[in-house]
Amino acid sequence: MKIDIKINEVNEKFNQEISIVNSIEDLEKIKNKYLSRKGLVASLFSELANLDSTERPKFGNILNDLKLRITNEISSKVPTIASGEKQNKSLLDITLPGKITNTGCVHPLTKVISQIESIFTKIGFSIAYGPEIDSDFFNFEALNIPKHHPARDMQDTFYLNDGHVLRTHTSNSQIHFMLNNKPPIRIIAPGRVYRNEDVSVRSYCLFHQIEGLYVDENVTFSDLKSVLNYFARELFGNDVKTRFRPSYFPFTEPSAEMDVYWGLESESDKRITKGTGWLEILGCGMVDPEVFNNVDYDASKLTGYAFGVGIERIAMLLYGIEDIREFYKGDIRFTGQFK
Ligand code: PHE
Repeated sequence: MKIDIKINEVNEKFNQEISIVNSIEDLEKIKNKYLSRKGLVASLFSELANLDSTERPKFGNILNDLKLRITNEISSKVPTIASGEKQNKSLLDITLPGKITNTGCVHPLTKVISQIESIFTKIGFSIAYGPEIDSDFFNFEALNIPKHHPARDMQDTFYLNDGHVLRTHTSNSQIHFMLNNKPPIRIIAPGRVYRNEDVSVRSYCLFHQIEGLYVDENVTFSDLKSVLNYFARELFGNDVKTRFRPSYFPFTEPSAEMDVYWGLESESDKRITKGTGWLEILGCGMVDPEVFNNVDYDASKLTGYAFGVGIERIAMLLYGIEDIREFYKGDIRFTGQFK
């Protein structure tokens, strides 16, 4: 075979191989194959000896060019192949631990509030809000709790210099709503409330309630009981045990408290329920006519019921939380469990 054909062959073979190489290891092999002492280019050079002396310089030059080109092409490939290999490695290393992304979640109290909201909106209640900082009138006076009234003692709170208070209950929302709307009324009002309490596993200086208010003609105590039993069944399941105990609130008459059975199996159950097995979750009653008078409603025509649900108690029952203070620490190891 003539030398020019051989040179052509080597040239084309190299072009083809270099165009598909994609690892440093293979590049090294190509380099050996063409440029080593016994490589293809060297063997072409050794054939120069067989040529006519007139042809030698011409093919010598061609071979020198070929060698230079192959050397240059191989070294110019090194950086691209090396960085590609690095990238492939990082894409393919499935043994690396996954990245933990913090997705965040709803606070357990927010979760319970939305759950309760959906239970009541399903039967026709709408949602209203009252302010957390309110005047003495809305939080106390209009609810039939005058300044001298002993009920104020149980609802001691934080007083602002201008006479406003941090509301002690969501019942202030009742007054705001009735002053701004005409009956019939069917609302629930969720929110945060404050009290000057001794901090313990069961009570804290702030907590959350949902107020309920239903005002119309001919609303009865049995309507109240049936709605609250429906509520307990929706929330805790059909076999939940509830009981109503007579109670006292200045703004309802008669008044009651509803308890849910928590159980007495463990020491902590006893601590949480004070040894009775029952946990109070809400106060309720028929709206006192005096409250209607305070908002200019006709107390001779209207009746109504109201209730106030403690959200923390419910969340504790639903999730088996034993210390109310967990809700306010902002520790995501706790709050992150309620996705
Ligand atoms: N506001 C009362 C409390 O905080 C609860 C309640 C609301 C009772 C509505 C009766 C009617 O204790």
